[in-house]
Amino acid sequence: MCGIVGYIGTQQAAPLLLEGLTRLEHRGYDSAGVAVLGGSGVRVAKKAGRVRDLTEGLPKRFTGQVGIGHTRWATHGPANDANAHPHTDEAQRVAVVHNGIIDNAAALRQQLSDDGVELTSDTDTEVLAHLVARSGADTLEGKVRDALAAIEGTYGVAVLHADFPDRIVVARNGSPLIIGVGEKEMHVASDLAALVRYTTTVAHLDDGELATLTAGGFTTYRQDLSTTHKLAEQVDVDPASYDAGEHDSFMHKEMQEQPAAADRVLRGRLDERFGTARLGGLNMDARETRAIRRVKILGCGSAYYVGQMGAALIEELARIPADAEAASEFRYRNPIIEPDTLYVAVSQSGETLDTLLAVQEIRRKGGRVIGLVNVVGSAIARECDGGIYLHAGPEVAVASTKALTNMFIGFSLLALQLGRVRDLSIADGKRLIAGLTRLPDQIQAILDREDELAEVARTLAGAESLFFVGRVRGFPVAREGAQKFKEISYRHAEAYQTSELKHGPLALISEAVPTVALVPSDELTDRNVGALHEIAARRGPLVVITHEDVDLGDVAALRIDVPRNERELDPILLTVPLQLLAYHAALHLGHDIDKPRNLAKSVTVE
Ligand code: F6R
Repeated sequence: MCGIVGYIGTQQAAPLLLEGLTRLEHRGYDSAGVAVLGGSGVRVAKKAGRVRDLTEGLPKRFTGQVGIGHTRWATHGPANDANAHPHTDEAQRVAVVHNGIIDNAAALRQQLSDDGVELTSDTDTEVLAHLVARSGADTLEGKVRDALAAIEGTYGVAVLHADFPDRIVVARNGSPLIIGVGEKEMHVASDLAALVRYTTTVAHLDDGELATLTAGGFTTYRQDLSTTHKLAEQVDVDPASYDAGEHDSFMHKEMQEQPAAADRVLRGRLDERFGTARLGGLNMDARETRAIRRVKILGCGSAYYVGQMGAALIEELARIPADAEAASEFRYRNPIIEPDTLYVAVSQSGETLDTLLAVQEIRRKGGRVIGLVNVVGSAIARECDGGIYLHAGPEVAVASTKALTNMFIGFSLLALQLGRVRDLSIADGKRLIAGLTRLPDQIQAILDREDELAEVARTLAGAESLFFVGRVRGFPVAREGAQKFKEISYRHAEAYQTSELKHGPLALISEAVPTVALVPSDELTDRNVGALHEIAARRGPLVVITHEDVDLGDVAALRIDVPRNERELDPILLTVPLQLLAYHAALHLGHDIDKPRNLAKSVTVE
């Protein structure tokens, strides 16, 4: 959500900043801007719209070897040129880019305008530029420290000042910032994606830290400006993983990467001899694991729906009461934190603020929380007592796919381990391990049927409104299917328990409202097929995701058979075709797959 880049060195900054912003566009894409510091002081170019609009409109001779840039997802004020970052002071000597939210912005804006400052935007960020300019400190670090001391809220911030042309000062509190070390040049970005083309030697800023970047190096500080002596480290990342390559979108690439990603999250974690999982990162011994009486899973959006799948797995395999809750709601109901409950935060980015705040609420009240997180070293991963890294690789598309699949597998491993220290037999443990090992090939088998699914998707794309229905294990699958469909196709898609249709929504079923029904071969197949009859009797078009051995009788439906695994693991194989349905419906409708309107990857505001 919002992206920051910065550069200082011997090359022209603007082309590098624009390239970096393009790499960050998935974080926000309603406006973009850059500021450079050259012979004629601070120059700013910013514009509502995409980075390519900014690039096309960039003034001639926009030169300078120091610069900062930003891609915005609007929070305060609409997406227009004035609200785009960077923001400047009245004298145009200071430029600031900022991610996060300044909670006391309204009061600060009032104070500034009472002092005669003319504010030129509706944003919270603009106050920072004025506060830096008005500080009496004689260093840029001191001016930034003074400005930050006046604000309440979250920030990742980068600041240029015409009086200090040899440096950029950056600071972090709640919004990530990564420094990239180059050859006689330094970079900074809110995401590794913008750095990996230039360097893989990086330093992650911690909350409460500031840093100065000069062409020759960087120095990190605490808020009192005492140095923290942070060193850069080499990150093991393939820059090609941030390119869509031959694919028309990152979402397509990331769906196709699922078999390899699934393989990675399993690697080294299956103990076939004892039918259990090896999860050293949980930092829990067998006694502590056995003492758990309840599991509470917290995540947002799709991660919450996979959390529901995870809760079902834990109840089934470990026989521990488990449920999932939207992390965004959790801390507002003054939750009771129990010492024998295991709290699990699940997040691709590890940055989602709602989830991070839920984790902090649990820890404040003395609870134990583990993370299922994809991004190594992210805020949620660092805040947790232990966890399972998902190893899905970088996920760029706003619509999450491979990370969700690996979340499901991560929950399967957790359920296996919790189960095996309780009543799950070694035979059942081995049965699940065999099932998990089959998953990558079975996911591939579904992906191989893309053409068939694309054809079904085109029929669904014509409907203004759809239902996705499933029961018990299938219900979170339906929720995720509806979420993916509405996110990128902009069609209204509603998930329901199949059993609940007759209690209300059946009134909406008609020829114009298709239903995507999940009908796995399990203890509820007959009941599910019964519901299909009820839909068909009202002339509702049906797409049924099912297994080969399921007899749908004479129900007219487009049928998609997915490979069978162990019942407990089937939900993820039922989910994969729903990704392809959403993707091909959106493609057919001509939407921008990777940048759905109004959305951004990593929601770092509440
Ligand atoms: C849907 C989607 C979002 C995220 C949610 C949580 O495709 O991507 O619903 O799942 O914003 O994000 P993370 O997993 O980064 O915490």
